[in-house]
Amino acid sequence: MASIPTNTRIYTIERFILDRQADFPDATGALTSLLYDMAVAGKLISSHTTRAGLADILGSAGQENVQGEEQQKLDVYAHRTIYQLNDHTGRLAVMGSEEEEDIVPIPEKYSAGKYVLLFDPLDGSSNIEYNVSVGTIFSIFRRKSKSGPGTLDDCLQSGRDLVAAGYIVYGSSTMLVYSTGDGVHGFTLDPSIGEFLLSHPDIKLPDNPKYYSVNQGYHRRWSEGVQRYTSWLQGEDGGEYALSQRYIGSMIADVHRNLLGGGVFYYPADKKSPKGKLRLLYEAIPMSFLIEQAGGYASNGTGSLMDVVPTELHQRTPLYIGNRDLVEKAEEFIAKYDS
Ligand code: AHG
Ligand code: MN
Ligand code: MN
Repeated sequence: MASIPTNTRIYTIERFILDRQADFPDATGALTSLLYDMAVAGKLISSHTTRAGLADILGSAGQENVQGEEQQKLDVYAHRTIYQLNDHTGRLAVMGSEEEEDIVPIPEKYSAGKYVLLFDPLDGSSNIEYNVSVGTIFSIFRRKSKSGPGTLDDCLQSGRDLVAAGYIVYGSSTMLVYSTGDGVHGFTLDPSIGEFLLSHPDIKLPDNPKYYSVNQGYHRRWSEGVQRYTSWLQGEDGGEYALSQRYIGSMIADVHRNLLGGGVFYYPADKKSPKGKLRLLYEAIPMSFLIEQAGGYASNGTGSLMDVVPTELHQRTPLYIGNRDLVEKAEEFIAKYDS
């Protein structure tokens, strides 16, 4: 792996991604450009989300804004931004998005490429009107089919097949975090120059976790195993931690905080959502890949989430993700009380 220079304080994401490409002599640059385009998408969406509160002044949904354009919901805007940056580049065979029921084909007039891009354009979008952090999550696979338009089957791959994954969190600052399988690297957007600068090289989960993150309001819907696990995290039943509880309600922001501070996030299956709420392909799988790369572990409650092979584009899954010992403890409680 190309070493990360320590003698320079300014390391742009463009240079960082290009330097990593040097590790792969056969690389054509397609993945490099694809990652860079996701950074561009992040800048555009970031700039748009910070103006969200101005919608009433500039024109709300369904009305025309001062430029004569109809205002879009932010998640639709984010979806279109990512689509438009990627439909014509010849790098992708097909896309899939939380905002589209079916796979998103590459228009016939453009050539099909070798990668597949799956994304949640805006995670936590119900939080937007409260000025709470939201984000974009993406998974990149190699296509399985040999040629022609990409298919649904090209999208249905497990975390073990990922080529790269990442997220952009629009918080008090905008950060892009990604991995191509050689560690997790974080970049902070400097809005004054419009560049993502390396701020968090080679992120590893801290050994001493601080937080557990779950929607505690749903306690009554949980299984006995999940209820007892939560008590254990609070220090009961011999639990060694007594963690602080933090729950933003944007999975991306919750997992991001726990990645840096240590802890576990979970959205279990419950009486209302027997399959869980979060989506495998563009929420759980990419975040699991990043957490594994940072030394952690992710589970669906019974085994590694990275081994689950999806059968549907928008498939849901229970998710337990964070420090390995905390996630394995959830598996123990579920095996003991729920099976
Ligand atoms: P999205 O905005 O992409 O639909 O995802 C929202 C998800 C996730 O970000 C968050 O963890 C979860 O919904 C919150 O759900 P609850 O309100 O049920 O806790
Ligand atoms: Mn989401
Ligand atoms: Mn979403």
